[in-house]
Amino acid sequence: MDIITAPSYEAMSEAAANQIIDLVKLNPHSVLGLATGGTPTKMYELLIKDHLAHHTSYKNVTSFNLDEYAGLKKDHPNSYFSYMNQTLFMHLDIQQQHTFIPNGIAESLEKECARYDQLLQDMGPIDLQVLGLGENGHIGFNEPGTSFESETHIVRLTESTRHANARFFGSMDEVPTHAVTMGIKSIMKAKEILLLVSGKNKKNALERLLDGPVSEDFPASILKKHPKVKIIADKSAYSRTN
Ligand code: F6R
Repeated sequence: MDIITAPSYEAMSEAAANQIIDLVKLNPHSVLGLATGGTPTKMYELLIKDHLAHHTSYKNVTSFNLDEYAGLKKDHPNSYFSYMNQTLFMHLDIQQQHTFIPNGIAESLEKECARYDQLLQDMGPIDLQVLGLGENGHIGFNEPGTSFESETHIVRLTESTRHANARFFGSMDEVPTHAVTMGIKSIMKAKEILLLVSGKNKKNALERLLDGPVSEDFPASILKKHPKVKIIADKSAYSRTN
């Protein structure tokens, strides 16, 4: 794993956006793995800015999102479907039929998981997977204890994750209890992974990732086994000098 420290959240976002822009310019048919949450929002803003200024085209790009809440309608303001459309997709020339997000309101979530894995298999591998880091070490919604062999599955969110995400909802009661997430094995199939870590509340998790063992107790630790991972952390999440 390579780690780069950025002096600020903005600088982290710029470095990440540039990596995506360079990739898409090099391969206009890239398959991107995308994350939601607070960490990548500025990066998405910069992708839009670049698209408007320099016309980088996403017309032939395919994207797969990591996860979606179970039980939220697509048009719910906190669904990841809404997040992705409003934060990114509607501002680019990406084709909606090329953007994939698990369907959290499928009649059978089990079948939805199998469908998503099939899509990943048919259209993958993902060229570049963007990840955020959970305070408890989750990647996607793969909570501590998730098998490293997992593919897309239904997950019961931990209280700590629900608590962390309650900031986007009116109250803790409104935060869904379950989600559908790409599994660790699916994430590890990406050719390249970009992990973004921002803020002092991620400091402990990042330290544990860098110094701790590879263990299912801390899902992000599996990234140490991937051949091409870049971590971009801002100064508040990472302040080591060596
Ligand atoms: C989001 C996702 C999560 C987040 C993580 C960090 O699609 O899969 O793993 O990346 O919870 O969230 P933020 O960026 O809000 O701190």
